[in-house]
Amino acid sequence: MAQSQAVTAPHRLGFLATLRVDRWWLEPALVLAGLGLFFGYLTVSIFLDSWAFEIGPYLSPVYEPKLAEEFAAPWFSPAMLIVWGPVGFRATCYYYRMAYYRSIFLSPPACAVGDALPGYTGESKFPFIIQNVHRFFMYVALVFVPLLWIGAVRGFHHPDEGWGMGLGSFILVLNAFLLMMYTFSCHSLRHFVGGGLDCFSQSAWTRTRKSVWDWVTTFNERHRVWAWASLIWIVLTDLYIRLVANGHITDPNTWSSF
Ligand code: FES
Repeated sequence: MAQSQAVTAPHRLGFLATLRVDRWWLEPALVLAGLGLFFGYLTVSIFLDSWAFEIGPYLSPVYEPKLAEEFAAPWFSPAMLIVWGPVGFRATCYYYRMAYYRSIFLSPPACAVGDALPGYTGESKFPFIIQNVHRFFMYVALVFVPLLWIGAVRGFHHPDEGWGMGLGSFILVLNAFLLMMYTFSCHSLRHFVGGGLDCFSQSAWTRTRKSVWDWVTTFNERHRVWAWASLIWIVLTDLYIRLVANGHITDPNTWSSF
């Protein structure tokens, strides 16, 4: 019989200690750059309400739904009334948790790589136990799905000139679609629609839940893709509408006023 060998786990050897010989650092480095770039842009965008964020039928999704423009001040942006929902949803998302635990907290930086912080306690204690509020942010995010689609449909209707279409209309549609798919692929939504059941075939209701659960499971398998695609696209959508609204580029469209 082969003798058992005692192998010391990398996290006990020290920070960044590992037996891995591949480029394990590449993914956390790229994720760090991506999170910094895209979330950094969105943070700045929330406070950049003095740089026009709407024109004709287009409203930046960062400000959707537009609730209180009259309260705008240097220290207060109308986006602040609504961003707590999407920000809380993303910040507590299971995928983003893994992403920033690895790339920002380095805890651990990657599988089988030494942890920056000894004494891993997971999310069982304060403050990370607060991450459990994700399911409640999921309910809030579900409200934003139809609101974003209303904004996308409004992107085809100029307030003065009526129905038409432009490049921005389709950019807003894709933005609503990607954010919907990010929400519909949520792990908490998957549990919400299909969790807690011992037998899916008990009744028509549980069979219906099984069907919905199958759909959400299919979406959920690509949750990371939806997370990144929706994040990148909302940044590009906001940037595009601002560039058009401030006269830096021209939107090809069927209206005559811009
Ligand atoms: S797990 Fe990512 S949005 Fe819910």
